[in-house]
Formats: sequence, C-alpha cells, structure tokens
Amino acid sequence: MRRKIHQVRPKVVHVIGDSHALAFKNKSIAYSEVSMIFSTSVAYIRGLRPDVLLENGRLNQQLAEYLVKERIITPNGKPISATDDRALLSEQYATGSGFEMELVVFHVGEIYVRKYLGTHLQNGEFDKAKIESDLSNIVESYVKDVFTIARNFGLTPVVHEITPPTADDSQFERINQFSSSREHRAYAYECFNKLLAEYVTKHSCMLCPSSDRLADNEGCLKAEYEFDGVHADPKYALMSLCRVADLWLYSRAVGGTKRYGRWFEITRRSIDLPKISQVGVSDPEQIFDQAQVERIRKSIGPLDFLACKKPALDWSHAAPFNDTEKSTTEVKYGAVDASGLELLHEVLVDGPAGDSIRSLIGSKFAIINVRAVESAPHADEGVGPQKFHRDHCPIGIYRGLLYLVDVDEGEGGFEYQPLDGSPEPKQILGKAGALFLFDANAVDHRGSPPRTTTRLALDFVILTVPEEAEEIVHCAPLGYIWPVDPYMFSLSGACYPKQKSDRWFYPSLITAGSEPARFKPL
Ligand SMILES: [Fe+2]
Repeated sequence: MRRKIHQVRPKVVHVIGDSHALAFKNKSIAYSEVSMIFSTSVAYIRGLRPDVLLENGRLNQQLAEYLVKERIITPNGKPISATDDRALLSEQYATGSGFEMELVVFHVGEIYVRKYLGTHLQNGEFDKAKIESDLSNIVESYVKDVFTIARNFGLTPVVHEITPPTADDSQFERINQFSSSREHRAYAYECFNKLLAEYVTKHSCMLCPSSDRLADNEGCLKAEYEFDGVHADPKYALMSLCRVADLWLYSRAVGGTKRYGRWFEITRRSIDLPKISQVGVSDPEQIFDQAQVERIRKSIGPLDFLACKKPALDWSHAAPFNDTEKSTTEVKYGAVDASGLELLHEVLVDGPAGDSIRSLIGSKFAIINVRAVESAPHADEGVGPQKFHRDHCPIGIYRGLLYLVDVDEGEGGFEYQPLDGSPEPKQILGKAGALFLFDANAVDHRGSPPRTTTRLALDFVILTVPEEAEEIVHCAPLGYIWPVDPYMFSLSGACYPKQKSDRWFYPSLITAGSEPARFKPL
C-alpha cells in the first residue's frame, strides 16, 4: 500500500528558562496553512534569574553549553553562521536547513519577582513606587541582555511574560515561607509584565504575552490553570507556542544572518555604498529591441494569480497570515523558460547592460530569480505589491524590472518616493524593452495600478556575487522559497548557463575571514 506522505518544514523553538520553561517540553504545533511544524527544545536552567544571563559580558555557563550543544554557537563563542570551522559547517549543511536565525524564547523572571517580594515585605511596608522602580531596573537590564545575546549570536529573540501568581494566600505562604496578600502579589507580577512590554519595544525584541489568558480579573492565576501552587498548568504552553510561531512568521529575518553580511563583504569591489543604494532607482535604459521583447514574451509560461502555492517563509514574501491584504488577484505571475533565460543572459550579463548593472551594484551579479508579472487594469486602490512598501531584502540583494509593454502615465508604472525628499512620488515610464534597477530596501515603492491597459514586466532578484562565482540567470518554480543562505541554495528551476549541480554552492568562500568572538562562553 502506498502511503500518503505530507511534507512539512520543521522549526525548532528553543525555550530557555527556569522551571516555568518545563511546561514547553515536548510540545509541537502544526500549521497546515504553511506546512510547518513548530517543536520545542527546552533549556531548563534551575533557578535561572533574569540578571544572570550575562555576567560581566560573559554568557551564562549553562546557557552557553546548551547553545553549543544545539549547534547555535561554536565552542569558542561565535554564532554558528559566522564560523569557519569546516566540521561545523558540514554539519549545518547536512541538515539542509541552511543558516536561519534560531528562534529563542526566554522564560525567566517569576522566581526573581517572588523572591524580591519576600525581601521587600520584610521591611513591613508595601511600597508600590519602590517596587516599580526596582523591577524597572531589573527588567531593563534583562531585556538589554536578551537583545545583546540575540544580536551577537544571530538569534530571533522572544521574551515570555511571567506566569501570574497563584490566588491562594495560605498555599502561597506555605510554599514561600512568607505571607503576601494576593493584591500585592498581583501588583508586583503585573508590574513586571507591564515593564517587559515597555522594554521589548525599546530593544527590538518580541514579547509573548500569556497573562491575558492565564490571569483572572484580579491578576492572579485562574483556577483552571492552577497546577502546583507555583506553575501554570502546562496546557498553556501550546497557546504560547502558537503566539511565538505567529511572531516568528511575521518577523522572520533569515536575511539578517551573519552569512549574508559576510557574503556581501566578499562580493564588493568598493567600500562605498553601491550607486543603486545612493540613487534608489536607476534611470530606465532601452536595453531590448522589439524582436527581443517578443522572444521574451514567448518564453513566459502560464500566468497564475498565486505567487506562492507552496509555503512562503522567507524574506521575500508576505507573512502567511495577516490582517492586511498582501496579495491581489489583479497581479499574475509566470515563469520564464530556458530560451528566455539564455537571451536574458546574453544581453544582461554578457552584453553592455552587464557592465552598467555591475557598476550600479558595485560587484558581479547573478540573477537568482526572474519571473513575469502581469498586472490587469483596475480602478481600485492598490493592495499588496501595488501599495507603497519596502522589501526588507537581505543585504546584497537588489531588484530590477524590465517592461515588456509600453508603460505610459497611469498604466502600471513602477512608482517610488524619490530619495531627494520630493514629496510627490515618481513613476518610471518607458517603452517595451526598458530596464531599470532599484534598491527595494532604500525606497518606498509599488507597482502603480494600471487603469486601462495590462502591464507585463519581468521582475528580477539580483544577488551580488564574488569574482569567482558564475553570473547565472535562474528562474525558480513559482512559489519557490528564496535562498536563506547565499553560499548554498537549490537551483531547482531553469538556469542559464546550465549548472552541473542543482545546488548553488560556494564552500571555498565560507572560510574566508571571520569575525572575532564576542563572548568566551566556555
Ligand atoms: Fe517590492
């Protein structure tokens, strides 16, 4: 009997914390919409406090051991994505998951607040202002340390709220050897969570709330979540895991990995900001003649509404669930066949246009994806790609557009906010065959909605490449996930020149130079 196998992509959620982290052990959730499974890996560090994640700039010993064991950092304290250790690199590539930023949830603070409350009450008075000021200091340094660790090791950090205190006064006293009214407990715990929310926003971290579900109207743990007088029933962990997964799906930033930065450094011919980033958008040039435009048009496969039939989980795509509409049925996408890619290569890489592109981006380049985009005329406001946005591409990625029809005023021209500060957006108009490049991170841009005619164009993703790399033109199957690692990604679509391997792989560049360790954890 043939089994039906449903392929899913796993994502590990590392949960680091005191005993509250244990609720997350062996938890998984499946998101069928994006064919993903989020599974936890827990680093339980007994009694872990928010003030000891970093001690004198040194990573907490047990935390360091966990991160090394999980191959998130190297034994000498570098992020794994910046290592030049061949054995570690081989292990990374063997997993096939590339060099994503690991998702790490910090779940500490409850024990700290409880002990703090005991000390505070020893003085006999409940001083709200003092509690707020003391907790503010600890929460600020906690969130700063999480941010520092995340930045140095290339992690995506999430800070979890602390579990609300249990409601039973006598049980609390029995367990903790001091008495505190439930109002006082609730105040201190709520204060900590409120401060967390304030500081995560300041320090580019994300917060996983939980007290909105776990706490009753008085700020204590709801009876249905009561577990052992201290912890919440582990059933809440699935709710938190969903929230963490949502946060990650909205914010994923694979392009922020150290490897993209390293790659970009290697590719650059100059330390100056590339011209394209200085001007934002290049002037359109009439590169292709009418006959060539015809040949390109013929090489375009069937056009479809959906840009992405497969899970879209990387920098170049919209979040899979979003309240705002990201895609529009007015825009269709299509692939380009091998003959089209050959022509593009002949003109854009080998022809004089190649030098102009190299000069704009300041390096050699590969067109790692090209696709056709057809925008149907409509009278509505634009949504998705027809609304002003930036692309948040990784460093070293630029975009290009080739018109395949004449584009007049109001007929779907690429529109952008000029970098010279002019208040009015500008439209790029041009004849079929006109090409221009843009830095999609530098300028707000959109494809303006065509009003009466259908606009057809090719849309390019251009990667800077070092001297020794081949300048390819590649068309990934529609819905393909863009590379997360510029040193290695799958060439699963049509490619010109044809490659021996279906992988783009430049291992020789990986070990060229590396950053000094920021921490010495072991
Ligand atoms: Fe864009």
